[in-house]
Amino acid sequence: MLPSILLALILPVSIFAQCGTGAIYNQDRNKCYQYYTASMDFKSAETVCDTTNGHLVSVHSLIDNTFLAQQAQKNLYNGLVWLGAEATSEVVTNPNNWKWTDNTAFNYQNYQSGQPSVLGSTACMIFSAATGKWLTSSCINSYPFICAYDPINVVPTTTCPPQKPSNCPSRYAWLEETNSCYKTIVRQANFTEANAACQYEGAQLASVHSKLENDFLVEISTTHLINQTSPTLKTHVIYNSTITTRNKFKVYIGLVYLDGAWKWTDGSSTKDYLNWAAGEPNNMNREFWTVLMPDVNTEDYNPTGTEWNNIENNEQRAFICKRAAS
Ligand SMILES: *[C@@H]1O[C@H](CO)[C@@H](O)[C@H](O)[C@H]1NC(C)=O
Ligand SMILES: *[C@@H]1O[C@H](CO)[C@@H](O)[C@H](O)[C@H]1NC(C)=O
Ligand SMILES: *[C@@H]1O[C@H](CO)[C@@H](O)[C@H](O)[C@H]1NC(C)=O
Repeated sequence: MLPSILLALILPVSIFAQCGTGAIYNQDRNKCYQYYTASMDFKSAETVCDTTNGHLVSVHSLIDNTFLAQQAQKNLYNGLVWLGAEATSEVVTNPNNWKWTDNTAFNYQNYQSGQPSVLGSTACMIFSAATGKWLTSSCINSYPFICAYDPINVVPTTTCPPQKPSNCPSRYAWLEETNSCYKTIVRQANFTEANAACQYEGAQLASVHSKLENDFLVEISTTHLINQTSPTLKTHVIYNSTITTRNKFKVYIGLVYLDGAWKWTDGSSTKDYLNWAAGEPNNMNREFWTVLMPDVNTEDYNPTGTEWNNIENNEQRAFICKRAAS
């Protein structure tokens, strides 16, 4: 029998992040989010957050923002909620004139159209839980709010706290809501090659079943780019990362027109969600494959930067593989 000290050394030790009662753990940011239903002004809300060594929540990506809005709908209501940004000047349109109470960079905005509006001497940020869109409010108004604080890392003793680990292969990004893993491979490829490259590593071209999943794909297809050589792909065409070139090419997803119907290559249903751009799908005599158009400035119609277009089987700038988390 091994001495227990030795056992302790050889047994793998998992550290779990823990949040206080009622708080929600956000794995992407390693933060605990506490939703407060009581309405109060901005300064008072920040004071409440300070009691758990936190701050009003800051937001740094679409993924964060979507997570916060969804959880607000579940835990608060569908209305307006404080975020932790306060303007330092009346010129609210300049991002340099905003700061988060947690002092993180003001590097992401998700304004409602027509926002931010100038309010006079003070302006603080709220968002609509229903849409996730941001707007300015006078800091003395009262709203429910969200605090964010660091989790306490604990070594579990007998029971493990409920955690959802992301069991994705290396370089895949995990989305909690679908429990799936995604990877954007930046490589000019036609559909046949893209499909083969995903299958080669046990994945399929991405199917999309909700706005949340679509938003996530838009985000990873502009930010989490993986430049990969794959045995099934020709290697002579290298992605040119300049904006000019990127905008010319779209991103394959796994939607194909086959035997008179649109189908996902992974076999999942197309009944729950479709996101065709206006006028699409068209040219149904030859355009049997589908791309996401995540670049806001893509050459044709794509005002929101999130929609789909059917195209022929020819080279596009990238493709997204998806697989279930293990
Ligand atoms: C896709 O690309 C491969 C490799 O260049 C090529 O052999 C194949 O013919 C292409 N398929 C179509 C339909 O263009
Ligand atoms: C992609 O990888 C290839 C081969 O490693 C490299 O030559 C090329 O510069 C990379 N392209 C980008 C956009 O990073
Ligand atoms: C990428 O494209 C731009 C614009 O066409 C060009 O100026 C640049 O030289 C290209 N870069 C590479 C590495 O091919």
